[in-house]
Amino acid sequence: MQHVPVLYQAVLDLLKPVPGGLYLDGTLGAGGHTRGLLLGSSPDGQVAGFDRDPWALDVAKSNLADFGERVIFIKDSYRNFRSHLNILNWHYVDGILLDLGISSMQLDTPERGFSFREDGPLDMRFDPDQPLTAADLLNGSTREDLADIIFSYGEEKLARKIADAIIANRPLVRTKDLAEIVKKVARNPKSKIHPATRTFQALRIAVNGELDALEAFLPEALDSLNTGGRLAIIAFHSLEDRIVKRFFRKESRDCICPPEVPVCVCGHKARVKEITRRPIRPEEGEIARNPRARSAKLRVAEKIF
Ligand SMILES: C[S@@+](CC[C@H](N)C(=O)[O-])C[C@H]1O[C@@H](n2cnc3c(N)ncnc32)[C@H](O)[C@@H]1O
Repeated sequence: MQHVPVLYQAVLDLLKPVPGGLYLDGTLGAGGHTRGLLLGSSPDGQVAGFDRDPWALDVAKSNLADFGERVIFIKDSYRNFRSHLNILNWHYVDGILLDLGISSMQLDTPERGFSFREDGPLDMRFDPDQPLTAADLLNGSTREDLADIIFSYGEEKLARKIADAIIANRPLVRTKDLAEIVKKVARNPKSKIHPATRTFQALRIAVNGELDALEAFLPEALDSLNTGGRLAIIAFHSLEDRIVKRFFRKESRDCICPPEVPVCVCGHKARVKEITRRPIRPEEGEIARNPRARSAKLRVAEKIF
């Protein structure tokens, strides 16, 4: 199934691509948003598109073939974008997008191991060249480390119970085995979500170092924007959204001294204007067409100096 770009129109309305502009799409996926950036910056705007997943890049290359050299495909984490832009001689860019999380293509391919609904190996790597898999984490971590991962990255209250059940059933090899084990200890008849949702999310975040990548990226992304350029981030869970929200709040304030300090000593100057004080959410129609858009939150900031 073709990935439907989440909040497509809102992203384009807020990033406002212009002819000749340079853009960075850190999470290219199937290239849906990048297509919009290329169309909006016709005839000569360019996009550097990053993805850790070589299969996603193949799909994007085929989907964006018509745009020729206006799009540059880079297989790397967006957190390493600066060295690639240096090679391109792009000192500053006019807009930056991250559409975080997992694509439908990845979720719908059982062999990638992201889904608890389908059986597959416990893999969960965005980048198949990375050595660490979900199975390595599950079978090689201590009870404390497992419980920490599931609690911190899955916001799962039953993390300790789940960690105990994992330890008792090791080695784990298949997604279905993990889903069944979690279901037994975390079944909640009142909850609408599958009991393994949070545990799978936690493992995916840990395997791919997702939150570290986002934290490392934001300040460098801001440094690399032209004045007036915009940074747009779509988050799919509260942990990501919190990181983006705090970063935008901090960078939009002139002083970040603690409240008890009577006179500013930090000298911090606001570098962005928040364009979205509250995050933009998909409308009901979009959610009905694309249920995975349900938890999306878009935040946008503009660099002011
Ligand atoms: C939700 S999809 C993006 C979909 C895309 N906006 C579109 O319109 O088709 C997220 C993509 O980000 C990639 N990804 C996740 N973390 C990444 C990282 N740190 N660096 C580069 N790509 C990453 C995933 O492999 C996935 O293909």
